[in-house]
Amino acid sequence: MILAAVLGDPISHSRSPALHGHWLRHHGIDGAYVPLRVTAVVLPDLLRMMPGLGFAGCNVTIPHKEAALALADTATDRARRIGAANTLVFADGVIHADNTDGYGFLANLAAGARWDPARPVLILGAGGAARAVIDALSRAGARDVRVANRTRARADALAHAFPGTRAVEWGPDLQGLGLLVNTTALGMVGQPSLDIDLSELPGDAVVTDIVYTPLETDLLAAARARGNPVVDGLGMLLHQAVPGFRAWFGVEPRVDGALRDAVLE
Ligand SMILES: NC(=O)c1ccc[n+]([C@@H]2O[C@H](COP(=O)([O-])OP(=O)(O)OC[C@H]3O[C@@H](n4cnc5c(N)ncnc54)[C@H](OP(=O)(O)O)[C@@H]3O)[C@@H](O)[C@H]2O)c1
Repeated sequence: MILAAVLGDPISHSRSPALHGHWLRHHGIDGAYVPLRVTAVVLPDLLRMMPGLGFAGCNVTIPHKEAALALADTATDRARRIGAANTLVFADGVIHADNTDGYGFLANLAAGARWDPARPVLILGAGGAARAVIDALSRAGARDVRVANRTRARADALAHAFPGTRAVEWGPDLQGLGLLVNTTALGMVGQPSLDIDLSELPGDAVVTDIVYTPLETDLLAAARARGNPVVDGLGMLLHQAVPGFRAWFGVEPRVDGALRDAVLE
């Protein structure tokens, strides 16, 4: 039996076991994917023990993404650029780190809408998820990426780290945008709503939110109501899981309606 896991603290809310469990059943694989609540103190020893316990790898989530990259023996370029890992593969005695969040974001965006890399992009937020999103958009050819964040210094740091990106005021200008992305926690269940006036946003600008609880955030509802193409955030979670599953279980899984239903249940 091949094992994989998601490591975090807290972890009970994670949808990853439902996601990978669906694929394991669908492909009839003799494997299991388990949630493990892991503290920072335990993480280094646990990662070294997991291969011997039958784990092919794991996902890593808050608050261990940066530590996981530091503890890995090798890492992909994108994980290094982002400065965090969400996917670890154990093979040949080494821990290999990757970050598939940006890949998941882009695959979800491409599946849901057509966006034009030549038009300006505005990212709301400058946290860990924003780094992955900006990295992916820059690699996909976005030439004018603007970042607005409540804490300006974090937007400045991102602009410094990713060439072609610049920090703008929180409460930003939406004129001429081709893509608007919310990467803040605002709009999530239990968080304040994201108050933004979309009246200056071009009618054909794509609007996407990486928050997926609720599936239709207030931002997406407002954008949809005025006719903008919208893409919800659940697909990012689904797509980011593909490279890990492929590496651990040796099968290329599909992101489809059945998977969405399984995760939403
Ligand atoms: N769909 C997916 O697969 C996926 C993947 C990763 C993350 N996410 C979601 O993305 C969101 C951000 O995750 P993260 O890892 O980037 O978190 P993070 O590193 O903690 O960053 C949080 C961001 O939200 C902003 N923010 C929080 N509260 C705010 C408020 N009251 N007013 C204005 N800005 C506020 C923060 O601004 P400051 O810098 O000013 O604090 C920061 O930019 C979470 O909701 C997470 O669930 C979704």
